[in-house]
Amino acid sequence: MSTTAPSDKTASDVYPPSAEMVANAHIDAATYDEMYAASISDPEAFWGEHGKRIDWIKPYSIVKNTSFEPGNVSIKWFEDGTMNVSANCVDRHLATRGDQTAIIFEPDDPNEAAKHITYKELHAAVCKMANILEDLGVRKGDRVVLYLPMIPEAAYAMLACARIGAIHSIVFAGFSPDALGARINGSDAKVVITADYAPRGGRQTPLKSNADAALLHCKDSVKCLVVKRTGGQTTWVEGRDFDYNELSLEADDYSKPVEMNAEDPLFVLYTSGSTGQPKGVVHCSAGYLVFASMTHEYVFDYKDGDIFWCTADVGWVTGHSYIVYGPLANGATTVMFEGVPTYPDASRFWQVCEKHKVNQFYTAPTALRALMGQGNQFVEKCDLSSLRILGTVGEPINPEAWNWYNDVVGKGRCPIVDTWWQTETGGHLLTPLPGAHALKPGSAMKPFFGVQTVVLDPHTGEEIHDYPCEGVLCLKDSWPGQMRTVWGDHERFEKTYFGDYKGYYFAGDGCKRDADGDYWITGRVDDVINVSGHRMGTAEVESALVAHAKVAEAAVVGYPHDIKGQGIYCYVTLMNGVEPTDDLVKELRTWVRTEIGPIASPDVIQWAPGLPKTRSGKIMRRILRKIAENDYGSLGDTSTLADPSVVDDLIANRAG
Ligand code: WT7
Repeated sequence: MSTTAPSDKTASDVYPPSAEMVANAHIDAATYDEMYAASISDPEAFWGEHGKRIDWIKPYSIVKNTSFEPGNVSIKWFEDGTMNVSANCVDRHLATRGDQTAIIFEPDDPNEAAKHITYKELHAAVCKMANILEDLGVRKGDRVVLYLPMIPEAAYAMLACARIGAIHSIVFAGFSPDALGARINGSDAKVVITADYAPRGGRQTPLKSNADAALLHCKDSVKCLVVKRTGGQTTWVEGRDFDYNELSLEADDYSKPVEMNAEDPLFVLYTSGSTGQPKGVVHCSAGYLVFASMTHEYVFDYKDGDIFWCTADVGWVTGHSYIVYGPLANGATTVMFEGVPTYPDASRFWQVCEKHKVNQFYTAPTALRALMGQGNQFVEKCDLSSLRILGTVGEPINPEAWNWYNDVVGKGRCPIVDTWWQTETGGHLLTPLPGAHALKPGSAMKPFFGVQTVVLDPHTGEEIHDYPCEGVLCLKDSWPGQMRTVWGDHERFEKTYFGDYKGYYFAGDGCKRDADGDYWITGRVDDVINVSGHRMGTAEVESALVAHAKVAEAAVVGYPHDIKGQGIYCYVTLMNGVEPTDDLVKELRTWVRTEIGPIASPDVIQWAPGLPKTRSGKIMRRILRKIAENDYGSLGDTSTLADPSVVDDLIANRAG
């Protein structure tokens, strides 16, 4: 991926913070340097202090107990402390800000009224949901799958699980019934919480009927709690399906938060990797919350009274950490937006910013690129004077999009925090801090406190100490928000993240570090592609394709896409005698959408009578990537191929 490879002129494109920002931000340059140094030289003391930002039932005495040692990877933070995440995100604010808005809900349809939910109301709703779940038989340690639109009930459900010690696993509402079923079974969930329909961009996804289809493949004992979002028609299975709206009228609005150990799991979130099926990333209670809340406060320079808007979906980690847990732990007002950036038109984001006087706005480069293409008038007709900080996440941001964001949206007044992190990291690892760092378009800049980034030589695995340099990005030591294990498979956890470079957590990304020590992410170095900021394993799309009766073999690679960052390019070999037709292209697209979900929809399908393979039968993806990128000048050595002529055929018949 090359959208943001730092060009030679980057050194001159530097945007220092304004004097006003430096004077008012939580962290200025000197404070960053001092705190960062302290966090690395004595992590125990540093996190021992910052762990106190959340409320504890029983305080911890042990701060850090972590090992990246091969065969013995173990990560524990604050391990002898007890607390409750829901109490931290809700109850502890009641005395000081019970009547303050916790969540602003902005519906898909701009003509439907927004809702302002106070901390008191949030408390009652979370307690009711907790009691409903307990009545359905959910107990501490049980799993609950959430398959919901971006509605306040999603936050209630997350916090209700946390309150009773259940582990939630959110499945993005854009995933198919098959993917949902696999995740219900994968975590052996007791209850699925869904809604009748999910309104989005003026259309409605039939979530309940998707859940019905998924549940056909699950144990009969799994119960389904249904939020009536639209009141539209659904089928109903007596004894299995429960009506949330009805139950919540009767449910008690108090539920005592369960005392949880710091290391008790808070949630599982499935994410794609370079091999196999998606894995369940496990995050635990205290360390995650400390890290999510601290990054939320410092990276966005969040101050009391600010209105914070992260446009992600709660189905992704960004929504977990920066719509729900980080902001609510900080007593913030967080915006939950049900819709899409372009509905009813390309002005929607900016209208919502104006309407709710948003101070911090956090989105993905892919959305910015799509909006940039619609023209500036959509931004300019809105009053964006409330904005103070802008953020991006999910993929490298190309300088054009950065400049547009800075000039047209931020009017040159709002620092852009380009935050690099992952589902696995729980919160931001690399980012500038708005009052501390001079920004460089396309650079994720500096490690957050306690984060020990290193650049390794991919061949030798040695740390590179030079500036500038290029290599693979690794973490040398743990931070409190780090994932603890893969659900049900600790060995896979060790192998995936600690198997390549002994003693280091390997993120899967390549990077450059410039002469000033600032980091530039160059993209994944494994078989993971980044489509509109969403992670997709090429292996997953391949296995979906070969599951089709007419497909003999498939190889999938990413290629540069103007809006999505990367698109999905599929080489497909058909079974003997099957005709390659345009209708079959459509059929395969639909097939992948049903197998995984619309986000995995192939952009390009090229018929491949043969795939370039080594004599031992390994597909040479490097070559396929070059062909997809339309870059044949540098195919490299093809002499090891079993049949070099397949390459000429693929080039001659390149699709797209
Ligand atoms: C991968 C993680 C973290 C929430 C969203 C995606 C890429 C993420 C950036 C950024 C360059 C980025 C990386 C990373 N990525 N943020 N600011 N600059 N690349 O979470 O699905 O876990 O994907 O997204 O490649 O490894 P995810």
